[in-house]
Amino acid sequence: MAILSIPDQGVQINEPLQIKAFLAEHGVFFKQWECTVHFDDSASQEEILAAYAKDLKPFMDKGGYQSADVISINALTPNYEAIRAKFLAEHIHEEDEIRFFVDGQGLFWFHLSDAPIFNVLCQRGDLISVPTGTKHWFDAGPQNPFVKAIRIFTDMSGWTPHYTASGIEVKYQHFKAPNLG
Ligand SMILES: [Fe+2]
Repeated sequence: MAILSIPDQGVQINEPLQIKAFLAEHGVFFKQWECTVHFDDSASQEEILAAYAKDLKPFMDKGGYQSADVISINALTPNYEAIRAKFLAEHIHEEDEIRFFVDGQGLFWFHLSDAPIFNVLCQRGDLISVPTGTKHWFDAGPQNPFVKAIRIFTDMSGWTPHYTASGIEVKYQHFKAPNLG
């Protein structure tokens, strides 16, 4: 279950409907899909995608999304530090960044023009869409990362990060998210 935090205001929202409303107000799509299946590390990408097909397919058809895959990061992932660094600096994409958390967790930070900096800790069952052009960054934690997420794309090439070089993420690097390494 997601947790939304506004560090500069000491605000934390745990109620999914309130999180959804806050995000919708700022143009960010958030939804929860029911998770009844638990996968171990031997589960294939195809098995995971098939398990969520009943939610995934209508969502992709409606949004015109072309492809989906599964990303899996854990404590044994080679070069985790480099992978973490790639998304830890503020950036934008030329397409929506859509993630559905099958398991594990990750922290999305948002830098919008009409809101204080806030973050959403996404966990099992949470789907979030970072709209095209939105300044954001992502952290799976400094240690013991665990992310198993479905990624949904219109065009995979649009997913390259374009860095803003603002350095704003440094100001928030000491934020301690619940459950995050
Ligand atoms: Fe991103």
